[in-house]
Amino acid sequence: MISVSTLQEKDKRFLWHPYTQMQDYAQRDLLLIDRAEGICLFDQQGKRYFDTISSWWCIVHGHGHPTITEKIRLQLARLDQVLLAGTSHEGAILLAEQLVRLTPPMLSRVFYSDNGSTACEIAIKMSLQYWRQVGQPNRCQLVGIERGYHGDTIGTMSLGGVPEFHGPFAPLLFPSHRLPSPYCYRCPVGLDQNTCDCQCLQSLAGLLAEQGAQIAALIIEPLIQAAGGMIVYPAKYLQKMATLTKEYGVHLIFDEVATGFGRTGTMFALEQAGVAPDFLCLSKGLTAGMLPMAATLTTEEIFQAFYGNYGAGKTFFHGHTFSGNPLAAAAALGSLQVFAEEQTMAGLPDKIRHLQARMLRFADLPWVGDLRQIGMISAMELVKDRETKEAYDFHERVGWSIYLAGLAQGLLLRPIGNVIYLWLPLSVTLAEIDEITERAWQVLSDPQNIAGW
Ligand SMILES: Cc1ncc(COP(=O)(O)O)c(C=O)c1O
Repeated sequence: MISVSTLQEKDKRFLWHPYTQMQDYAQRDLLLIDRAEGICLFDQQGKRYFDTISSWWCIVHGHGHPTITEKIRLQLARLDQVLLAGTSHEGAILLAEQLVRLTPPMLSRVFYSDNGSTACEIAIKMSLQYWRQVGQPNRCQLVGIERGYHGDTIGTMSLGGVPEFHGPFAPLLFPSHRLPSPYCYRCPVGLDQNTCDCQCLQSLAGLLAEQGAQIAALIIEPLIQAAGGMIVYPAKYLQKMATLTKEYGVHLIFDEVATGFGRTGTMFALEQAGVAPDFLCLSKGLTAGMLPMAATLTTEEIFQAFYGNYGAGKTFFHGHTFSGNPLAAAAALGSLQVFAEEQTMAGLPDKIRHLQARMLRFADLPWVGDLRQIGMISAMELVKDRETKEAYDFHERVGWSIYLAGLAQGLLLRPIGNVIYLWLPLSVTLAEIDEITERAWQVLSDPQNIAGW
């Protein structure tokens, strides 16, 4: 067997890791994961780590769930890959049917791709082409939200709002409108979320009143801006937003790449607002994290605008080699089977309450400015001063020592700037929640792990 030190050495020689400053690992080894079981990862020495970030927010039923593994195995023996242009296959068809059944009735068509960025990029492109095809080519402006994140392609970066990630690419990004983030802890209009009337949406009302007829679509992550700092906001904000976009005929794109498939306590976050978007973008949890896949759902009205004679220029010329890959479709169908067989959603309220109860004590730590939770996602924002809410600068990397202390405690944490979070697989047990939160407490209650304290 190849030794750990050889692998580490080859890693340093040949690999370039995503969202990673490689110099951090010049004198230190990356965590080399050998295998996974349930919600845990094991390194080459057999040390166990709780996967508290669901391996970048995609693991749903734990790693290697037998039902899904078996589905993939059977599919592999039958059909591994086929293009989805001009051909089809059972898995893609049956999965599309199930996705349409699970989502609001308005959403009737499924367009596959293979990651969250493309799911969103497709929604943006479809919206643009739709308006051309229905005789409104001037509707070509787009709206995003500050602190929003929709992926790393040029289109999705252009609508994102996390300058720390996308700043270097600014010359490439197309101009678009940006609304203030519904960041209740740091309310952009200085109000209290319990008594406000979402006055932060007044800027949208103003924008639409002025330029509504030129705006094609608005994209937003429903209920939580995840990569932007786990910013949880109320459902009423989405309801008011939907009323406004509807009034001006602007497409609403819900990016549920991260929130889809139970993460917020309902199968889709949109259910908590009772709002149906024109586009719904899914990925990550779609296959329960087993294989890459994405889907963009849209309405019959939008689909029909693309339907016609080939020569009429209505075709949507977009596709990816692995769009609707049969193995990924089998995994997604397997995951939906597990949701049904294990009654995953019915078991969630107890887990969510338990997590909330276990996290409460973190709010008393002097460096925790805000503790926020939605569903199986619990986050805390660290501050230098609770009174003034003085923030750590992103580049101060307050999360780095916490990440390292987490590893020592057997927790794989991945702070985003000053926000430390748990994004737990839905299969986590109450006992595992106890263990994870106790270990997290050991990390976060120790001032030595908190820069400046
Ligand atoms: C809300 C949201 N949209 C889109 C993406 C991009 O997904 P991917 O990394 O699969 O391209 C992410 C990734 O974290 C996300 O959280």
